Amino acid sequence: MKVVSVVGARPQLIKLAPMATAFATAGADHVIVHTGQHYDADLSDVFFTGLGIPDPDEHLGIGSGAHGVQTGSMLAALDAVLQRQRPDWVLVYGDTNSTIAAALSAVKQHLPVAHLEAGLRSFNRRMPEEHNRVLTDHAADLLLAPTDEAMRHLATEGLAGRSRLVGDVMADVCLQVRDAVIAGRHEAPTLPEGIDPGLPYLVATLHRAENTDDPRRLATLIDALAVLPVQVALLAHPRLVARAEAQGLKLSRGAVRAGRPLPYAGMVAAVLGSIGVVTDSGGLQKEAYLLERPCTTLRPETEWVETLAHEWNILAPEPADLGADRWRSVATRAAPAAGRAEPYGDGHAAQLVARVLAEATS
Ligand code: UD1
Repeated sequence: MKVVSVVGARPQLIKLAPMATAFATAGADHVIVHTGQHYDADLSDVFFTGLGIPDPDEHLGIGSGAHGVQTGSMLAALDAVLQRQRPDWVLVYGDTNSTIAAALSAVKQHLPVAHLEAGLRSFNRRMPEEHNRVLTDHAADLLLAPTDEAMRHLATEGLAGRSRLVGDVMADVCLQVRDAVIAGRHEAPTLPEGIDPGLPYLVATLHRAENTDDPRRLATLIDALAVLPVQVALLAHPRLVARAEAQGLKLSRGAVRAGRPLPYAGMVAAVLGSIGVVTDSGGLQKEAYLLERPCTTLRPETEWVETLAHEWNILAPEPADLGADRWRSVATRAAPAAGRAEPYGDGHAAQLVARVLAEATS
């Protein structure tokens, strides 16, 4: 079986890690194509080295741009790559512009497409990711769903016949890295300058277009972090840094100390050392849940609804509306006493994905 994985952005590299191992174990011919959507070393290279992913076989070097330009450039470049490779499966990951570009290029060439992390929905049509995931699901031949909830969404859209519940490959990698961190096999994370890891701190990230691109909204969110009564380690995505600079907004003020994004093991270690997480990232909400830290999500909805059980995760799209006292107590609340279910699988999803693809190879 020959599989081409198309990746481009940070969360896809995390999902690729357990898949690359599973394909190697299964003896599959696995080709990695990197679109270049993320090109900063902090968002790309450190994930290849840190997670032991083989170097990409092809790198398209597309980079940033408006949605149409970025997606269109990927589509044009991928046509030639996929025509040359002619795999049994084109495997696309998650919900980025790299995902939709690869799915489109493949279906137009009658190459079978499998979508990993299928069936997630925010029902927020202002999010570019929502269009990417809906369109990719409807184009793909095989929908690899991480959760029961995702399977329900796919069934509602008439896609049950093409869907398989496989579990969540991000849980595979998160749980493995957690164990390695606890066993002391990783160095302490490089937290932003000024954060004392001996004192309580929150881990924060902010990168979504809905939160970063409107100057007033971004300023309000940074203000909300700044007034928190504990240190806030803000691991700043390049998009956040660029938007803050353009808007003349200082990130490190009040409780906030901004620093660079962390490699994967560093992020897991930082969350394990924290009292909780404040974020607009999908992946980090789930990692907080898996690592048993309370999460406060700066969005009106979440795709990972399972994390909301017992308030392991709380949605706070407008912290200012909560009032200062309530906001402070929500963001710094202790972990719930209630235990957690295990909706994301048992840490072996990648092996199941490799098996399902092999079985479905005609
Ligand atoms: C993308 C994904 C998002 C995912 C996120 C993870 C889409 C539509 N969005 O958002 O789903 O959660 O990746 O990080 O695909 N930039 C750099 N260096 C980089 C990459 C980006 O400086 O290596 C800056 C550029 O200013 C760029 C901006 O970030 O214009 C946006 O990058 P882009 O790839 O469009 O989306 P992300 O915000 O990273």
